[in-house]
Amino acid sequence: MGNVYLEGQFQPIESAKISVLDRGFLFGDGVYEVIPVYGGQLFRFNEHLQRLENSLAEIRITNPHNHKAWYSLLTQLIAENEGEDQSIYLQITRGTAPRDHHFPDQTTPTLFMMSNPLTGTSAEILKTGIAAVTEIDSRWSRCNIKSINLLANVLHRQHALDQGAKESILIRDSLVTEGAASNLFIVQHGTILTPPKSNYLLPGVTRDLVLELAQQHGMACREAEINESSLQQADEIWVTSSTKEIVPVTTLNQQPVADGKPGAITLQLHRHLQQFKQQFRS
Ligand code: PDD
Repeated sequence: MGNVYLEGQFQPIESAKISVLDRGFLFGDGVYEVIPVYGGQLFRFNEHLQRLENSLAEIRITNPHNHKAWYSLLTQLIAENEGEDQSIYLQITRGTAPRDHHFPDQTTPTLFMMSNPLTGTSAEILKTGIAAVTEIDSRWSRCNIKSINLLANVLHRQHALDQGAKESILIRDSLVTEGAASNLFIVQHGTILTPPKSNYLLPGVTRDLVLELAQQHGMACREAEINESSLQQADEIWVTSSTKEIVPVTTLNQQPVADGKPGAITLQLHRHLQQFKQQFRS
């Protein structure tokens, strides 16, 4: 790994240290973003920055940087790390203060950023898809905030792995919300459906791009509530995220989704996304 960024400095990860009184460590009091980099360029930068701004506003932390300063810091971070394609992780916590639940009077937010190699979806996964399981959504009711408090998501993801699956699809009040770390789409009678944005799911940047691409290419799609039986009877299912892009779900609760192979619409959208990225790179 190249250098990470902490407290105003680029430094090796081994030397990056935070106080044990940091409220991110003690309370999970902070937010984060994951931004893909293709060909050395920040992908959907404005959208990620806007979501960061929204998350910060929701938890009442002042954004430490303006758009230009973010761009410059992130561009430096990319240069400090190897590879044309990277996955940038950044988190902002409320800062360090004696432990007490209420907001401290005066703290400086802690900003940490690192970069990891970005590989996208493997050819193997595109060929076979993944297995997913459904689970009752145990998270709080402000899932639109990209909070670093991910304990419920961690438990949901682990539940999937314990069942021999890769992702947990979460259900709240009989309706599908999203995956443990992804948004969800299905195809029903030829129409692409994804749950509408609400406080029960993260407004995924990849989700919005997939909807945009589907519309551009004249594919029938809309935002709609998806109940458990629609999920079970779906012709195709896939999940999206910035790091994994579009991942076909071919097994649900140990049963094949339709014929158990990645669907034609899933693969078509995957191709459109690859094309879009290719144009972005050039
Ligand atoms: N997670 N929903 C949840 C709960 C997520 O954690 C993520 C992504 C998404 C997809 O959002 P986007 O398309 O903007 O990446 C939806 C990131 C990748 C993570 O936590 O590592």
